[in-house]
Order: sequence, then C-alpha cells, then structure tokens
Amino acid sequence: MPDSEANRSIMDLGRPYLIVLGNEKGGSGKSTTAMHIVVSLLREGYRVGTIDLDARQRSLTRYIENRRAYAAKKGMDLPMPIETVVAKSVSRSVDDAEADEKARFEEAYVNLIDKVDIVVVDCPGSDTFLARLAHTAADTLVTPVNDSFVDLDLLARVNPSNFKVEGPSLYAEMVWKARQRRQLADGASIDWVVLRNRVGMLHAKNKERVEGVLNELTRRIGIRYIPGLSERVVYRELFLRGLTLMDLKDAKGVDGAGLSMSNVAARQEVRKMMDALNLPFRQKAKVNA
Ligand SMILES: Nc1ncnc2c1ncn2[C@@H]1O[C@H](COP(=O)(O)OP(=O)(O)OP(=O)(O)O)[C@@H](O)[C@H]1O
Ligand SMILES: [Mg+2]
Repeated sequence: MPDSEANRSIMDLGRPYLIVLGNEKGGSGKSTTAMHIVVSLLREGYRVGTIDLDARQRSLTRYIENRRAYAAKKGMDLPMPIETVVAKSVSRSVDDAEADEKARFEEAYVNLIDKVDIVVVDCPGSDTFLARLAHTAADTLVTPVNDSFVDLDLLARVNPSNFKVEGPSLYAEMVWKARQRRQLADGASIDWVVLRNRVGMLHAKNKERVEGVLNELTRRIGIRYIPGLSERVVYRELFLRGLTLMDLKDAKGVDGAGLSMSNVAARQEVRKMMDALNLPFRQKAKVNA
C-alpha cells in the first residue's frame, strides 16, 4: 500500500499518474473498464481522481454517483474517488472553443494534483479535441476493443482475404500524432495498452484472427495487447449500485450480492487485467513491499 501522505507523487513525477481510457469506437467498454481500474486502485490504498470527458453520457460519473448513493443508503464505507466532469466548450469559434477546453482540462487536472495519486480519464466514443488533449497527456493509454473486426477497423486496415494488416487506421493515426506531440512536449512516451473486452467463448476462429491482427499491431504501431474482461452479465448489473467486482465482499450480506463462483472468476480476471496493465507505480510498490 502506498504511503500517499509522505510521498506526494507515487512515481516522483511531481504530479498524479495519468491513465486515459480511449477509443473512438462507441460502446467498447471504456467506462466499465475505467470504473474497475478506479475501484481496484482505491482498494489498494491509492487516492484516485476521475475526469469524465463524456459530459453527454457521464457514464463513469453516474457510476460513481450511484456508488455514493448506494453507500449512503446501506450505511457502507466504500472507498470513493474525487470525480470531475469537463464539458465541451459552447463557443462557436473553433480557436476559442479549443483554448477554453484546454484551459478547463488543465484546471480539472491541476485541481487534483495535491489530492490524488492517480487520475483516470474517461473519453467519449468519438474524436473530440478534449479526447486528443487527454491522449497526449496520458502516461498509460488503455483502449478496450471488442473481439471483432468492426472494432479493429479503427486501429488497422485489415485485408479481408488474408487478414493481414495493410496499415494503421483512423484512431491509430490519432494516437501516433498524440505520441509525437508528447515526445516534443516533455520527451515522455505513452504506454498504449489495447485491452480485449467482452471476450466470449464462441467464434474461436474469429478470436484467433483478431489475435493475429493484434499481434502484428504490437510490432507495427507499438501497442501492448492484454486480455481484459469477459462477456458477463455482472459487469452490466453492478452499474446501478455503483459497485465493481472488487467490492462484492463488502456487499455480501447487505443485499445478497455475495460472491458466486462466477463472480470469483470474474474478480480474478479483473485482477489479471490490473496486473497486465503493468502500471509502473504498482510494480514499484511491489518491489518496495
Ligand atoms: N465485459 C462486459 N460484459 C458485459 N457487458 C459489458 C462488458 N463491458 C461493457 N459492457 C456493457 O456494454 C455497454 C457499453 O459499455 P461502456 O459504457 O463501458 O462502453 P464505452 O466504451 O464507455 O461506451 P461509450 O463509447 O458510449 O462511452 C454497457 O451497457 C456495459 O454495461
Ligand atoms: Mg463511456
């Protein structure tokens, strides 16, 4: 567990570590994965802030609000992040809107600097200026994709007859530019992790092909790909109570949401995902433990 008070910055960055959940593809699992990362880190003792850049849906923020309401209703002491929302600018001039959004994104982050160890940013499922800002600032960029060529289409152009990668596509090019801007800004690199979400048991051939493409992409566009969450009803059900699988022990006996065998397996896959993210401050904490 980190000693947050004594060690203001967990990575000696002089600022919180920034994890960004991004993918221009809507519904790929960004907000669900973000919430599981947030709660896993809270339960490990880190102080976590969130910035929701999807001010229209506010899925991550609503998830957190549901959590606060549920904890209050049940008299439970659930660890909570500090949540913030940054909305799109209403300015009609593109230049003014971008300047306004940049200022508000930076303000949201700066406001969290002394209060948290990690900031988790949830991007909308579309290409926006705010999302680009966040991508450029990321220390770790997490991109959930479903096991389908529809999702992969934003990462790579794939030849339909032999399933070979022909080149990067829209979103990968955006991330490439973000990495370039970041290099120029402070020489840092962005660890880009593509995470497979809603992995199912069926369609083994499709899964194999998707894996082949992702393997090729690790070399061609510098991603790391890791297993994420399986397709499970429990990930959808927990939203209304603001809980994640990492909380279910607490909820046991309160409303019957105890741990079934499948929940135990699900919790294990969340832990595996967290480990595979290879967040450097967690590695450091392990070494120091
Ligand atoms: N592993 C999973 N198993 C089952 N359902 C899932 C899983 N991951 C996400 N979902 C469900 O899929 C839907 C989309 O997930 P989520 O809102 O996390 O995606 P998103 O990428 O944030 O979407 P958007 O681009 O609209 O912001 C939600 O209904 C969510 O509950
Ligand atoms: Mg979302």
